[in-house]
Amino acid sequence: MNITFCCAHTQADPWLAGFHMALPHAHVSEWQPGAPQADVAVVWQPSQQFIDEQPGLKAMFNIGAGVDALLRLRLPAAMKIVRLDDAGMAVQMAEYVCHAVIRHFREFDLYEADVAKHQWVQRKPLVRGEFPVGVLGLGVLGERVARALRQFDFPVHGWSRSPRSVEGVTCHAGQEGLPNFLSSCRVLVNLLPLTPETRDILNRETLSRLQPGGYVINVARGAHLVEEDLLALLGSGHLAGATLDVFRTEPLPADHPFWSHPKITITPHTSARTLREESIAQIAAKILAFERGEAVVGMVDPARGY
Ligand code: NAP
Ligand code: GLV
Repeated sequence: MNITFCCAHTQADPWLAGFHMALPHAHVSEWQPGAPQADVAVVWQPSQQFIDEQPGLKAMFNIGAGVDALLRLRLPAAMKIVRLDDAGMAVQMAEYVCHAVIRHFREFDLYEADVAKHQWVQRKPLVRGEFPVGVLGLGVLGERVARALRQFDFPVHGWSRSPRSVEGVTCHAGQEGLPNFLSSCRVLVNLLPLTPETRDILNRETLSRLQPGGYVINVARGAHLVEEDLLALLGSGHLAGATLDVFRTEPLPADHPFWSHPKITITPHTSARTLREESIAQIAAKILAFERGEAVVGMVDPARGY
């Protein structure tokens, strides 16, 4: 089996060494323009040139959970796409989101400001029941996040395309379930895949439905959020703040208003990183299953968009 590796922003050598160890029978090399046809590929944001030069690939194994960048390309219909399935990302996402929710709920920013002024102020505790958290997307990451939030006794709601059941979480589904889901929440966490249906889903209309003093945590994709609408609702006071890990343009341009907005906390697309060892082990196992003709977990449905 010939495996070609084509991953943007990724140092290839340690990945190639890992795949050599995990799949000693395979030939693994970094893709270069003009390289011979491979059987399968390990990819992250490959170019259209790569796809056009490798039309015989049977499958592409994405070293991330989101496949939006892949599905924007012109792909041969027979080429299978397999996404990363947790591989150590879910626990990172759970800690990132719980940290953001707790930081807001326990008013740590205000305490930090008091400390900077050497002021000893004990604030009246906020009421947990008044901070219901909603998780858009109850997939591999969203479900883990929803379960983690329940550990802190927040009321938790979840929204998915098809009906789901998660213990302790009030689950809503489909377009018809969205308004009720939104109005049930004060804190909104986005863990949807970016698809034609979910692009711009965090907009003036949807965010206005959150309870007053709402808080937005976007850890999925920047194109889910209409940035001007967020700024307007922060300005009007309907929203109290936001934690954003992903942006329409990455890296975030130096003059972007999010950098210095007092109600916005940003991080550089780091909420759940691809972990090399875990990912190599998972993808190697998937490649072996694929070779044997067995079902592979994490197969993407291009028609669905995720
Ligand atoms: P997943 O397992 O595919 O789960 C997606 C969830 O979204 C499912 O519950 C799905 O509903 C729901 N969904 C999809 N389209 C919907 C729609 N139109 N309406 C309602 N619900 C919809 O994905 P995942 O592994 O949890 O990852 C989610 C996303 O996180 C990725 O696509 C990626 O963009 C992002 N991500 C970001 C980072 C980061 O560092 N910031 C890291 C990893 C991933 P069903 O359950 O009905 O299918
Ligand atoms: C990261 O953003 C991923 O999709 O894995």
